[in-house]
Amino acid sequence: MRSISNEKNLKSKKILLRLDLNVPLKDGNITDTTRIDKILPTLNFLIRQKTKIIILSHVGRPKGKIVKELSLKPISEELRKKLKITVKLITENINEIKNKDFFEKFDEKILILENIRFYEEEEKNDHKFAKHLASLGDIYVNDAFSCSHRAHTSIHLISKYLPSFSGLQLDLEINALNKITSEVTKPVTCIIGGSKISTKIDIIKNLIPKFDNLIIVGGMANNFIEYFGNNIGISIKEKNCRHVVEEIISLSKKMKCKIIYPEDVLVSNDLNGSSKNKELDQILNDEMILDIGPKTINKIVSIIDNTKTILWNGPAGYFENPNFANGSIKIAKKIIEKNKSNKIFSVVGGGDTVSLLNSLNVVYNFNFVSTAGGAFLEYLEGKNLPGITALN
Ligand code: 3PG
Repeated sequence: MRSISNEKNLKSKKILLRLDLNVPLKDGNITDTTRIDKILPTLNFLIRQKTKIIILSHVGRPKGKIVKELSLKPISEELRKKLKITVKLITENINEIKNKDFFEKFDEKILILENIRFYEEEEKNDHKFAKHLASLGDIYVNDAFSCSHRAHTSIHLISKYLPSFSGLQLDLEINALNKITSEVTKPVTCIIGGSKISTKIDIIKNLIPKFDNLIIVGGMANNFIEYFGNNIGISIKEKNCRHVVEEIISLSKKMKCKIIYPEDVLVSNDLNGSSKNKELDQILNDEMILDIGPKTINKIVSIIDNTKTILWNGPAGYFENPNFANGSIKIAKKIIEKNKSNKIFSVVGGGDTVSLLNSLNVVYNFNFVSTAGGAFLEYLEGKNLPGITALN
């Protein structure tokens, strides 16, 4: 893998830079800028090298359609503020841009193409689209480690048509994860939460052999709670995955990895509501599970107490509503307490988890914080990530 940081003679080159600017947005405002802050060194490097930067990124999951709320406009404005240079959002249809000369007419050093997932070809890893995208630049740089588990055009096939390099943040993430996976001290505990259940549930099976404890919280835990015969009301869950849960449970017994899922929960009738503490067999048809309850928190805290290495990916509840942030906050505080006395090695990953830690102002109290969620877990699994394979 060649890093762009080692390249000279980049002057005037048009760099197609794939970033993960998939930041949380609320009413058109960015609620956490970590993913933007982390790629500033790459942008500053490319600015110093006097290149023309053409950013490719997605935000959200618009599924090949133009969704106004998922425009990269607020993100381009944030970049302009942070870098103190002009940044231009290009809203023209990419397929109608004939060639790279198109970009000459803009004086701005940084151009951002509108949300790449507005194009259905992106998620299809489409050859024609890849070739066309590639024709718009001289060099391709992937600095989106957190998207590198996706075999999408701007992550994977594009690299077939251009000299391709890794970016500074991607290098940093890979080096840190390599170090972590080669120097693990047991017992190892992994906490998996968040709402992207479909991305993560299959990964769990492959992680079981690597851990002593696997704590399942967040949306995915609902599948486990239901599997054991409880009503989960209107909670989010992954459909048709009883067999996956079954496999996870039987494999965990075989591999002596303890699976821990919530014993009590906090529920509400809607996302913005107040919280009620419930035993698992008390959940009503019109209620949704939005956080772990106090018994579960105590159990998790005591497991963390007996752990030497902890990997945490995905919040325990819907922390955006403070009524359901307690589980995640208690987990964070316990890890930080042990980290301060050097009794635990802690690695945290995932966009939402990082947002949560930022909102608590504790992001520097962990050994390593990765901006990646799904990619982080797949890398831990030992899988080849399409975006990384493409660069090799
Ligand atoms: C992430 O937030 O993990 C990345 O941006 C990938 O997003 P995705 O899960 O929608 O592919």
